Amino acid sequence: MAKKIIITIDGWSSCGKSTLAKRLAKELGYIYVDSGAMYRAITLYFLRNNIDLAEKKKIKEALKNISLEFSKNPQNGKTEIYLNGENVEYLIRDLVIAEKVSDVAAIKEVREFAVAQQQKMGAPKGIVMDGRDIGTVVFPKAELKIFLTADNAVRVERRFKEMYEKNPNVTVEEVKNNLEMRDYIDSHREVSPLKQAKDALVLDNTDLTEKQTFEKALEWVKEKIL
Ligand code: CDP
Repeated sequence: MAKKIIITIDGWSSCGKSTLAKRLAKELGYIYVDSGAMYRAITLYFLRNNIDLAEKKKIKEALKNISLEFSKNPQNGKTEIYLNGENVEYLIRDLVIAEKVSDVAAIKEVREFAVAQQQKMGAPKGIVMDGRDIGTVVFPKAELKIFLTADNAVRVERRFKEMYEKNPNVTVEEVKNNLEMRDYIDSHREVSPLKQAKDALVLDNTDLTEKQTFEKALEWVKEKIL
């Protein structure tokens, strides 16, 4: 039987990490964890409760009241994120959250809170997790680390299409500015900045279809598990 491994997928905003991760997890019968959804859900909680990001004490208190869970949404059969029992999968994709999430994710206490849960989820292996620091910090010993990239223009176009379907008022400019801002904050923050792990394999999918991206990654998986 093939051995179960940990697969990490890191990279810039909107380069197709979650699409690839979901497909790999489905193919392999692995668990998929969207670590970005955790930071987005924490951001939603902070916004709803007017938590001032400069007040460490308030942040620590707030984190004690946050319970995050990935479970199956009975309406569509998909695994989605629940914040204190409420399904927030749809809400957290809003631009209002995207505007704040990178500031929230740069806070040390927030990262410690999320990373501890991510490591627990990965303990039994057989997991695909995507994010920014998964191969560098969360699972530095993962068997397969993928660093996904794509040209900026392609990433903006993909994310714009995705957001436009939900909200036709969104503009390309807004999406572009948000991606650039998040990429900058994510790669320049002090704690666990986005960077390529030394042993990560780079996959540039600018000119690849979803299927081609998946097939390339699956080749790498097979080399590791067979
Ligand atoms: O889907 P997209 O790549 O645009 O973002 P996401 O994966 O939903 O992550 C949202 C934000 O969460 C990122 O811009 C980061 O600020 C933060 N994040 C992080 O700091 N570390 C992770 N492992 C995952 C996400």
